[in-house]
Amino acid sequence: MLQGKKILLGVSGSIAAYKSAILVRLLVKAGAEVKVVMTPDAAHFITPLTLSTLSKNEVGAAISEGSSWNNHVMMGRWADVMLVAPATANTIAKMANGLCDNLLLAVYLSATCPVFFAPAMDEDMWHHPATRANVTKLLGFGYSQLPVNKGELASGLFGEGRMSEPEDIVAFLEQHFSENKPLAGTTAMVSAGPTVELIDPVRFISNHSSGKMGIAIAEALAEAGADVKLVLGPTSLKASHRGITTIPVQTAADMLEQCTAIFPQTNIAVMAAAVADYRPANAADQKIKKDEDVLTLQLEKTTDILKTLGGQKKKGQLLVGFALETNNEKEFALKKLQTKNLDMIVLNSLRDQGAGFGHDTNKVVLLDRLGGEQQLPLKSKQEVAKDIVKAIIALQHA
Ligand code: CTP
Repeated sequence: MLQGKKILLGVSGSIAAYKSAILVRLLVKAGAEVKVVMTPDAAHFITPLTLSTLSKNEVGAAISEGSSWNNHVMMGRWADVMLVAPATANTIAKMANGLCDNLLLAVYLSATCPVFFAPAMDEDMWHHPATRANVTKLLGFGYSQLPVNKGELASGLFGEGRMSEPEDIVAFLEQHFSENKPLAGTTAMVSAGPTVELIDPVRFISNHSSGKMGIAIAEALAEAGADVKLVLGPTSLKASHRGITTIPVQTAADMLEQCTAIFPQTNIAVMAAAVADYRPANAADQKIKKDEDVLTLQLEKTTDILKTLGGQKKKGQLLVGFALETNNEKEFALKKLQTKNLDMIVLNSLRDQGAGFGHDTNKVVLLDRLGGEQQLPLKSKQEVAKDIVKAIIALQHA
């Protein structure tokens, strides 16, 4: 589970820091790539040299020393997970309040990955309302706390506040990667947004698609662990997830070219773009003058990308299309499922309020090649995207 995972270990100044050596050793043994950042106080408990030797990487210890401290943003972006262990009461307080007076905190504030923290402190400090409030705040940010153990504390007292044992921390990380990443090692492609078809250098034919639904699907796939290529028509929206590479395109022809090039290396493809069905047969090189009272544009059909991919689909590849219908919805959608050789079709009805173009919500029916049908209630596009990804995963295992 930890093979190839990038783990950024933040060590703060607690006596439990001596266990960081064992933790790094276990993580490296499990196949993880480990980088360590320490607070200046942590270096009183364990030397950077020890952790650097065990992790086989340079240790970031202080903002004023070393050559690469200013890469804290890159370190924060590099990691799949940031784990602060031990996390002292002081470091927890600073993390909760966005303080940034050492390298560990600068890296933490730059981290775009999930953050875990393993508290280590005396029982009274652990139960102090200030610490309680700080921990609650961190949980509110979506971060995860590892359980604290009961036992002998540095003060000589017995009670709650010991850091989780390194073996338990490793098990916790393994659990995280197995639960949340059912699509780890999978490649996916998503088309999204409108296409723009030129009439002349200043005018074009397009549609109202915002790309919201497709981007939400790309993010849900990336969140599930897939390596996602997003082929995106012109829109002001962007995908933010680190697991997504965006390939911007303009026309249906550009989109076709990119999609057919990427598809052979793809396990899952979801075509959510609103591709123009027709484009001007002869786009003018110069701006068209308004000399005529009536201007006739001749349009020619674009290639159906979804159908093209359906024709190229190999065993083990899963292809999902969308259908936007106004009447006989299910019948038309099932026909498209068959003729385009799809595994699933997401049916949008224009009759549903709050669904479709521009809205933040959508109401869809999922129809699959095995005859499965799931009617989803009106939900946010993010939630619909998660349901679509769940249905894709179920279909992969059917
Ligand atoms: N699509 C595509 N390439 C096109 C047109 C559509 O890949 N040139 C894909 C869209 O991304 C979407 C589905 O086909 O997944 C949309 O189908 P729909 O809007 O119902 O349009 P058509 O398939 O063109 O069907 P219709 O006969 O209803 O126009």
